[in-house]
Amino acid sequence: MKTTYIINIKQLNGILPEEKSFLKGSELKKLASISNSYLEIVDGIISDFGKMEDLQIQKLDSDSIIDAKNGMLFPSWCDSHTHLIFAQSRESEFVDRINGLTYEEIALKGGGILNSAKKLSEKDEDELFQDALVRIKEIEQLGTGAVEIKSGYGLSVEGELKSLRIIKRLKEVSNLTIKATFLGAHAIPWEYKENRSEYIRLIIEEMLPVIKAEKLADFIDVFCETNYYTPEETDSILKAGIAMGLKPKIHVNQFTSIGGLQTGINNKALSVDHLEVMEPNDIEALKNSTTIPTLLPSCSFFLSIPYAPARELINSNLPIALATDYNPGSTPSGNMNFVVSLACIKMRLTPEEAINAATINGAHAMEVSSELGSITKGKKANFFITKPIENVAILPYYFGNNQIRQVFLNGKEVL
Ligand code: NIG
Ligand code: FE
Repeated sequence: MKTTYIINIKQLNGILPEEKSFLKGSELKKLASISNSYLEIVDGIISDFGKMEDLQIQKLDSDSIIDAKNGMLFPSWCDSHTHLIFAQSRESEFVDRINGLTYEEIALKGGGILNSAKKLSEKDEDELFQDALVRIKEIEQLGTGAVEIKSGYGLSVEGELKSLRIIKRLKEVSNLTIKATFLGAHAIPWEYKENRSEYIRLIIEEMLPVIKAEKLADFIDVFCETNYYTPEETDSILKAGIAMGLKPKIHVNQFTSIGGLQTGINNKALSVDHLEVMEPNDIEALKNSTTIPTLLPSCSFFLSIPYAPARELINSNLPIALATDYNPGSTPSGNMNFVVSLACIKMRLTPEEAINAATINGAHAMEVSSELGSITKGKKANFFITKPIENVAILPYYFGNNQIRQVFLNGKEVL
């Protein structure tokens, strides 16, 4: 049994009781904390915490004492939406947008997701795995302790399974907690443009059974959007995924509101993600659901598209999660610190709301909140310690500036 104490913590943040798996509405405002505190970890699990003055002196004879030197401690970020398996960056599209083209125009002329699919088909599995591992290490150093990763740049039976097998290998070797999402329905491949139903048949009849047999995914996703998948197609793909034991988490309302959000909710989606374009009936539908809206402000930032109406969702007593959307097309960044800053600056979330949305609610949006997302006895000791900062607001305030000094995953220091 290995016991570690983190001592002299200026403020231990994100404390929640075991039964709280997410926070909604006005609950998001409060980030429960203890000042001048310690944290006790036994075998990688949080076993106790409290005020420094209550820490018994004999406990300080234990194996390992780490002095936080008056830094603040936060539960690790839980990034519930990424596409970090990709073969190549797409900076030429970035320049095209600077020169006036839109994301949709670039996609329609053969760029976008189909461009990434072509590149992925040309790269072998080992190389893709190594590239992804580098990205995983990067986000680990930026304070992320759990991440969801999607396939979706395969867009063929072989390519999708290759991507999902890479995620499975990452799960085996990484310190991070990883969840896998099957996004075979990310775009319609060129060769199926005139025969969409045949590609959908491949998803349902050729990909899903292998995914089930090899346990390659936890969730199923569809990009339900004009020029991508219709709500009807989304419905049949989600139902086929559910029959194979996968819970839906879908891309919806990024550019247009076409009823896909309701399709997600009707299929009891765990989350509906993006929501940059929301009609009043979309918000109403969310109010009567168990689905968590997941917002991706760094995608809005990078594409210069509207930000999702976070305030309106919170004021409607809903929960929201924040995630990066890390991918080569719309968000080439896996930095959750920047996401939290943007949520404050552009969506008018308070620092406490943004931090809750990026931790416990992100954990909920990938079904890991029983083990991650807060400082709770019995949860994994995944957390980061900052430089000595005066208060919580300093974290999003210094946007683009790293306040993290130490990172711990499963109780072990990794930075
Ligand atoms: O979440 N919107 C769909 N998928 C990704 C972008 C994919 C890409 O451009 O490569 C997203 O933004
Ligand atoms: Fe995405």
